[in-house]
Amino acid sequence: MKRRAAVVERNVSPIAGVVARGLLAGHKSLPPFLFYDEEGSRLFEEITKLPEYYPTRVERSILVEYADEIVAAAAAGTAFPLHVVELGAGTATKSEIVLRAVVRRQGRCVFAPVDVSESAIAEATVRLAASLPAVSVRPLVMHHAEALPHIRAIGPRRLVLFIGSSIGNFEDGEATELLAGVRASLAPGGALLLGTDLRKDPAILVPAYDDAEGVTAAFNKNVLARINRELGGEFDLDRFAHVALWNEEQSRIEMHLESLCDHRVRIDALGVGIRFRQGERIHTESSIKYDERHVDALLGAAGFIRERTFTDPERLFAVHLARVPAR
Ligand code: AVI
Repeated sequence: MKRRAAVVERNVSPIAGVVARGLLAGHKSLPPFLFYDEEGSRLFEEITKLPEYYPTRVERSILVEYADEIVAAAAAGTAFPLHVVELGAGTATKSEIVLRAVVRRQGRCVFAPVDVSESAIAEATVRLAASLPAVSVRPLVMHHAEALPHIRAIGPRRLVLFIGSSIGNFEDGEATELLAGVRASLAPGGALLLGTDLRKDPAILVPAYDDAEGVTAAFNKNVLARINRELGGEFDLDRFAHVALWNEEQSRIEMHLESLCDHRVRIDALGVGIRFRQGERIHTESSIKYDERHVDALLGAAGFIRERTFTDPERLFAVHLARVPAR
């Protein structure tokens, strides 16, 4: 315990504390937000184009099909124009489909994309300025939780997008806390558009997280490369294997990095050497796959009511419009 506290105090890098906590624990883990430095964001964009990774493609098809209906439902019951906030916006390519529907309905709107990746947000801002000048972009480069207090200032009627199944990367308790924070940032009548991946055959799920080209493996290992770059780590990426597995009981895909041999890795900025046994794993991500009951439980616990659900013909993915009930 003492050793851990000393490690955190000595360092100024914003990721030092979480890396130290994750790798010095009995069961090693690293939080998934660490994936998304510039290289990780680039690799994630590549993942979204892979044939095995259906979520992005299918969610986009749902938005294309239903964007006008979604926006009409979100805007119902008020004369105020709708303004849009997106948590984890990335390059905002899918949200552009929703923004176009908002512009078709009301002419103009404000869009506040929230993301920790400065490069992704910059790309979105430049692209939207050129392709959708009726949208005024107010970027927020920060974590979701930090962004919530800023959301109130966006306009009286807000639609918060939390799409891409990003909710699935949070444990239920954290997800409820995050959604409750979103709910607190909205007035009664405010709306949330939530994208969730659905439970399905592991024969479809596992390849989506372990693709033939090895892009997801590179994305997973990039977290070690990032520790090397930012904290003077000495990880040899070839000494770890990418593991993607289906956890039926928890209804989630898990990604791990498995040590291929017994070895020790020095991390300079932390002033420690971390021991790995052969077969020992670092848990790097969980991606929960939902059914409707699970979604209702999360939304209900956070104070939302699910109003509509839009899905694809094969029911691979779902987009839910939820509402803050009138008091
Ligand atoms: C960002 N998130 C929703 C992705 C997912 O599917 O859980 C991250 C990802 N991990 C591996 N592939 C994609």
